[in-house]
Amino acid sequence: MIATGNLAVLGAQWGDEGKGKVVDLLSPAFAVVARSQGGHNAGHTVVVDGDEFILHLIPSGILHPGVTCVIGNGVVVDPAALFAEIDQLHARGLDTAGRLLVSSRAHVILPYHRDIEAAAEDRLGAQRIGTTSRGIGPSYEDKAGRCGVRIGDLADARPGGRLAALIEANVAERNRTVAGPALDWRAVLEDAAGVWPRLSPLVADTSRYLHDTLEARRPVLFEGAQGTMLDIDHGTYPYVTSSNATIGGVCTGLGVGPRALDGVLGIVKAYTTRVGEGPFPTELDEPLAERLREWGREYGASTGRPRRCGWFDAVGVRYAVRVNGMTALAMTKLDVLDNLDELRICTGYRRGGRVLIDPPATIGELAACEPVYETMPGWAGRGRTAGVTDERDLPAAARAYLARLEALGGAPVAIISTGSDRGETIVRPDSPIGRWLAACVPAGEHTR
Ligand code: IMP
Repeated sequence: MIATGNLAVLGAQWGDEGKGKVVDLLSPAFAVVARSQGGHNAGHTVVVDGDEFILHLIPSGILHPGVTCVIGNGVVVDPAALFAEIDQLHARGLDTAGRLLVSSRAHVILPYHRDIEAAAEDRLGAQRIGTTSRGIGPSYEDKAGRCGVRIGDLADARPGGRLAALIEANVAERNRTVAGPALDWRAVLEDAAGVWPRLSPLVADTSRYLHDTLEARRPVLFEGAQGTMLDIDHGTYPYVTSSNATIGGVCTGLGVGPRALDGVLGIVKAYTTRVGEGPFPTELDEPLAERLREWGREYGASTGRPRRCGWFDAVGVRYAVRVNGMTALAMTKLDVLDNLDELRICTGYRRGGRVLIDPPATIGELAACEPVYETMPGWAGRGRTAGVTDERDLPAAARAYLARLEALGGAPVAIISTGSDRGETIVRPDSPIGRWLAACVPAGEHTR
């Protein structure tokens, strides 16, 4: 264990920034990796020696046998999805026994949540959110509505008990609002309670566990899901997910205080993507979007949907740095830009006669904004970044691009990812956070 403090890793765009790879890279230096929000809507891709793992619910730290993983109270858990993920890891030789904990306070996703979500998206028609259809939003709605089922509730399925009453009422509500065949609440109850024997060994008071871990000075990595622009408060509401993907979500979603956080690492892609509907100021037209999508394999890790692609949006990243207090950035997928002659960076949003330096609050205002671009030379034909592990080997234009993004983003870039494999990474030791992160990465992990 080498990390000398606790680190939060958060997305600074619309998710899919490459958090999985960065968390995987840093995990060996931490005792615990903890997830605080979201559910199996997330798709964290990790490539180990050419072998691809996609994790949705379980923190990416699980790929390292010495790391314990925590699914916190702020996460919404679909037990079937959790078991499928555990089974998949087992099938590939990774044992999770004894090192995966689920909060008894986490809310459960039940089949009626998916039905309610599908009906809501149908009703919205052209205004639909374009969700991942996993039941995430309705499960959080029940949580806020104080009628949600929590993991701990699954222990007691007695007739007339709390779980039975909750499910009976929630299914009745679902049957009132969703067209088609009605659900039988007794069957839902039986299925929900049926997961308990397998789930119960994992269930814990994870806030207490984290407290004890922190007291013992064992380092914790807090793994975010989605990204700042998908945050329910700070994102492009209503085209957002239903949880706080920003820094506050780490504390509320795990039951830890803010002083537990020694650093906040923001993950940014060297360009921008978004999956689902909603405003996206720097979105590219086809065919350039299509080329980026192909080079970057920009298809949703959870749903397979093609991601919308656009230029780097420094307005959004600067905002994410501010909202989360990010102390450093990790820049991913620089190599995807290797074939471009010219790059654009959005430095402001023009609205009427004014240039805004912050994203406006409403989607109407955001949709009326025109990105203000700065153009920089690309490095096509003048070197490549793919697989580079020493910054001095990057083409000069790539170094200039990074320096500009860093200046506009407002936080130092400590990690540069030049490919999907663990080894295809540059960890910069030239800043305090960079030195700290470099020390976190075991020798040999970031060099070929
Ligand atoms: P939900 O989280 O399934 O409710 O979807 C709400 C919005 O968040 C949709 O635009 C989704 O595409 C987006 N979203 C949710 N999770 C992720 C993610 O992990 N990466 C990128 N987009 C996501």
